[in-house]
Amino acid sequence: MTPIIAPSLLAADLGSVSEEIARVHEAGAHWIHLDVMDGVFVPNLTFGADAIKSFRKPQGCVFDAHLMITEPERQIPVFAAAGADVISVHPEATQHLHYALKMIRDHGAKPAAALNPATPLEVLDWVWEDVDMVLLMSVNPGWGGQRFVPAVFEKLAELRRRIQDRNLNIPIQVDGGVNLGTIRRAVQSGATNLVAGSAVFTGKSGADASREAVVAEYRENLRALMAEATADQFV
Ligand code: DX5
Ligand code: ZN
Repeated sequence: MTPIIAPSLLAADLGSVSEEIARVHEAGAHWIHLDVMDGVFVPNLTFGADAIKSFRKPQGCVFDAHLMITEPERQIPVFAAAGADVISVHPEATQHLHYALKMIRDHGAKPAAALNPATPLEVLDWVWEDVDMVLLMSVNPGWGGQRFVPAVFEKLAELRRRIQDRNLNIPIQVDGGVNLGTIRRAVQSGATNLVAGSAVFTGKSGADASREAVVAEYRENLRALMAEATADQFV
């Protein structure tokens, strides 16, 4: 299966989000990872449902909303209405994981559970039917540009085993510190969907670069990541 790379807007220019989405989509990305932070579950604040509603979504794009907010069930309906196609919630942020996941599905989006590096996989034991994706955090949530927590490689492999043992077909997303140095091992370990912020949006050209130059940089970043991610498939 070809892995999916989901650029995280956290590392993009938040002053021109719709333009950044358009450029990275033109560069080849179909998933757009939206990091929603409330200043409580994590120290940072980013954007909410109203902002997402105002982001222009290119045809065929998947808006992947990663909710790092407490009591996400209070806001799931507005995120679904704002255009989120996939909604990830943290079990650490709700007392009602099953309820929150079911609510996401009832509102027409795909439910996902997002687990911090230290959160055991057992939290998934009774919600396998209720998730369309599992997100494993490979950094502690809250900031972009952190280093991949090495223990998560083994956690990815263990999650893949558990999914296979149940004959399920659930994509595994990994989020945080995914770059040219970690992406291959993440895929080998079981990740099928890779969130990448700084590795995609960091460019060499300056602020006065042309639109074409920026798109070309994003395309090159995505190409290099994909080449690393799939390197083993061609040996
Ligand atoms: C962290 C976010 C990540 C982050 C990834 O809380 O969930 O999506 O943006 O950024 P990089 O790829 O720079 O680690
Ligand atoms: Zn994220």
